[in-house]
Amino acid sequence: MKIAIIGAGNVGANAAALLIARNVAKKIALVDIAKNPTLGKALDLNHMAALLENDTKIKASDEYKIIKNADICVITAGVPRKVGQSRADLLATNASIIKHASKQIAKYAPKSVIVVVSNPLDAMTFCAHSASGFERGKVFGMAGELDSARLRFEIAKHFGLKNSECKGQIYGEHGENMSAANLYAKGQKISQNLACELENLAKESGARIISLLGSSAYFAPAAGILKICEALKAKNGKVLVCSAFDESGYPCGRAVKFGKKIKILADICELKTAKEAIKKDCDLLKI
Ligand code: 2OP
Repeated sequence: MKIAIIGAGNVGANAAALLIARNVAKKIALVDIAKNPTLGKALDLNHMAALLENDTKIKASDEYKIIKNADICVITAGVPRKVGQSRADLLATNASIIKHASKQIAKYAPKSVIVVVSNPLDAMTFCAHSASGFERGKVFGMAGELDSARLRFEIAKHFGLKNSECKGQIYGEHGENMSAANLYAKGQKISQNLACELENLAKESGARIISLLGSSAYFAPAAGILKICEALKAKNGKVLVCSAFDESGYPCGRAVKFGKKIKILADICELKTAKEAIKKDCDLLKI
């Protein structure tokens, strides 16, 4: 398997490190406009592979031709959120970056699956789909697993439980209009009010990290990339929450089954507000 990562900043580079540690790909191609730092990261990552005694080969370049015939292309490129910025503030700037990357992916890796990570996530997933010309089932956004993990962390923290004793997913928009569902904490009852509180904590997690760190999150987003890549490789029917398209032609955070065929599952909760907000952003990009 060959995985291309477009954008080798904190998220992209950490995703590469996780993919190496879990031996997911034979080849990893890192593309970034910052040529020398990316060459340096690739060298470091090659040393990491050697140290872990695996045979992953990592290449880096500022040119897209190194992504040739990749099976998965992950787009993390774009401007990250700064303190006080919403994901939507990044709309126009990142749209042009994602469009360019997606056209290059269509040229060099036309059979790949695209995984978008740049924000605003759902609109950028839409942008990658239209600019690449790929079919709907070949373009996904990575956020639902990240948001769901943040929710499960908050449930576990609230009750003093282990992560593995808590369940829950976040569907809808990777933004203001995310919706928590299927909340579960071992041996505990979760009231409607508490569910709302926990949903809000999950929703605000990204901004909380930005205010502490001065830049947006990267370890957990990188783990989200790993999870989708592993599911795409294994094709064993794992269900993950991803930004995915339905017949409306717009993406939204929903359950996707990664089997031999990729199947978008029916929505299990009301996502009307999220869908409207995403459509509004996407329609701005059509102009
Ligand atoms: C986050 O929620 C970067 O959007 C990402 O942390």
